[in-house]
Amino acid sequence: MQYVNTNGAKIPAIGFGTFELEPADAEKMVQHALDVGYRHIDTAQMYKNEEAVGRGIKNSGVAREDIFLTTKIWTDRYADGDLQTSVQESLDRLGTDYVDLILLHWPNPDISLKETLGALNDVQEKGLARHIGISNFTKALIHEAVETSGKPLVTNQVEYHPYLDQKPVLDALSETGMAMTAYCPLARGEVFKDPTLERIGRQHGKNAGQVALRWLIQQGNIIAVPRSSNPDHATSNFNVFDFELTEAQMSQISTLNSPEGRMINPSFAPNWDTAA
Ligand SMILES: NC(=O)c1ccc[n+]([C@@H]2O[C@H](COP(=O)([O-])OP(=O)(O)OC[C@H]3O[C@@H](n4cnc5c(N)ncnc54)[C@H](OP(=O)(O)O)[C@@H]3O)[C@@H](O)[C@H]2O)c1
Repeated sequence: MQYVNTNGAKIPAIGFGTFELEPADAEKMVQHALDVGYRHIDTAQMYKNEEAVGRGIKNSGVAREDIFLTTKIWTDRYADGDLQTSVQESLDRLGTDYVDLILLHWPNPDISLKETLGALNDVQEKGLARHIGISNFTKALIHEAVETSGKPLVTNQVEYHPYLDQKPVLDALSETGMAMTAYCPLARGEVFKDPTLERIGRQHGKNAGQVALRWLIQQGNIIAVPRSSNPDHATSNFNVFDFELTEAQMSQISTLNSPEGRMINPSFAPNWDTAA
């Protein structure tokens, strides 16, 4: 296992994503992921599977303190007071006293960052979350959040895979000492059709998905949270610590991005940074 150390947090570089997993699948797959060695699980209030994730953790028999558990607060719970209540509700559903990391799921321009980050700081002070962070924040919003939050923010979880250039966000994170958590790290399955990634994989005895995940975590300071409903796929996605891409292969994968590469872009998304 490889870890990313960021602002006091030690985060396993590969986590198991649970977006769109129905409760039965989430429970089964979280247990499977923990059985094969994952120690980082990513869920959210919005995924409606926190209870199932909690059951998967319990069923696995892995000690709670050995698991890095992340959830995310939905944007309609950002007001001071309500945010803290929503976190307690998440903990109750997950069956735990704390999460390792709690994220603001998306920016919400209707509530000031000062209020929301104040409430998020309070959650950490109360011991409900070991670490706090953000998700889907742009370069300008990252800087605003870091300046506003009294306590350090450890990561910004954003879409990142070979088809999307995230240089402006990566620059802002390195300027502020934060890590990136890459969501949709397999480009929602698209990487498995990619001849370049397949060819590079053949040189290492790996598949295209393992190459895409390795490309992410080998950049350093990046955590990836692939999701799968298939046990063999989840096992495969974890087997990325026993090979290394060459510098030439890393650079080649970095040329695969395109301006149309973004896959998650809801109507409430912020004005994304555009790469130079
Ligand atoms: N913060 C946010 O706003 C946000 C937004 C989106 C996602 N996320 C997080 O990021 C996680 C990952 O993103 P994602 O779920 O959208 O997409 P993803 O992990 O990039 O891709 C998942 C897709 O890839 C397929 N897949 C996975 N492993 C495979 C393998 N080894 N071989 C073949 N196909 C494979 C899966 O199908 P099978 O099920 O058949 O394996 C599924 O269709 C989410 O689960 C969530 O935790 C966060």
